[in-house]
Amino acid sequence: MNEAARAATTTDLAYVPKAAVIAREAGARLREYFAQGVETEYKGDVDLVTVADRTVEKLIRTRLGEVFPEHGIYGEEGTRERLDGEFRWYVDPLDGTTNFAHGFPQFCVSMGLEHRPAGTRPEDDGTLAAAVIYDPMRDELFTAERGRGATLNGKPMRVSRIGQLAEALLATGFPSRKRHASPNIHFYQEFTLRSHGVRRAGSAALDLAYVACGRLEAFWEFNLNPWDTAAGILLVEEAGGRVTDFAGAPFRMKSDEILASNGLIHAELVRLFKDMFAGRDLTPIPTAEEFAQARKNREQKTAPSR
Ligand code: IPD
Ligand code: CA
Ligand code: CA
Repeated sequence: MNEAARAATTTDLAYVPKAAVIAREAGARLREYFAQGVETEYKGDVDLVTVADRTVEKLIRTRLGEVFPEHGIYGEEGTRERLDGEFRWYVDPLDGTTNFAHGFPQFCVSMGLEHRPAGTRPEDDGTLAAAVIYDPMRDELFTAERGRGATLNGKPMRVSRIGQLAEALLATGFPSRKRHASPNIHFYQEFTLRSHGVRRAGSAALDLAYVACGRLEAFWEFNLNPWDTAAGILLVEEAGGRVTDFAGAPFRMKSDEILASNGLIHAELVRLFKDMFAGRDLTPIPTAEEFAQARKNREQKTAPSR
């Protein structure tokens, strides 16, 4: 279906219109909390949670129950309802809590719907059917339904056409638990040196939405959860991009790694991941000590002679 035809049929989408109303209501609550400021608690070493995360998850749970009473819900803040049903919403009521808690306006509501036909084994993935991500600070609504394309504020959106890593803008994120156990800083370095840059904006769901609408060429992260990724994956796929693990194999909901791109630079990224895991072709950068020494040498050379 071409983009004009897709846009013309958005009125008969099955899930997005109702889910979008919920996401907008949830986003409006986040905006209010953001304006008034909230206290922060810790769930892990640097894993924050606020009253906004909990209240907004409750709101989404109630609203989803009203409009899709048969659907299951799997939410970051603990909601586990009707998980044996045919449909399941993965809900992150506030993706970007650390930003939110610091007054940094980059966060969103993320809701992804998985279709799990009868007979789907618990360990198997279903098919992503619908996605809604809402950024309340920019009033941007990203949506998709399987086979119907993806939209940003109602207009069809596509991934970018950039075909080389060297011309790409990328994004990644770092876990809020056991950060010391993550190797991602090495990947951050290598990708930074080989691209136009790597953004670490603090909301994985928005990072994926930005790949889908062409603001970024790719996004990767270790150890995300389905509430972070479900909606964004469908957005990227429906916008013409690709989502896999770091080896280029199909992404699985329980996967520990996600690589999403515009498709055009995917093979190049997979190759680089392979080389890096094998310790090949790494770009040396000076250690802090080496850098300090070089600075000292420079200072000595340029010091005025008496
Ligand atoms: C986090 C954000 C962040 C990512 C972390 C996630 P939260 O989600 O998506 O960008 O790097 O791994 O945990 O905790 O703000 O919902
Ligand atoms: Ca999240
Ligand atoms: Ca969250």
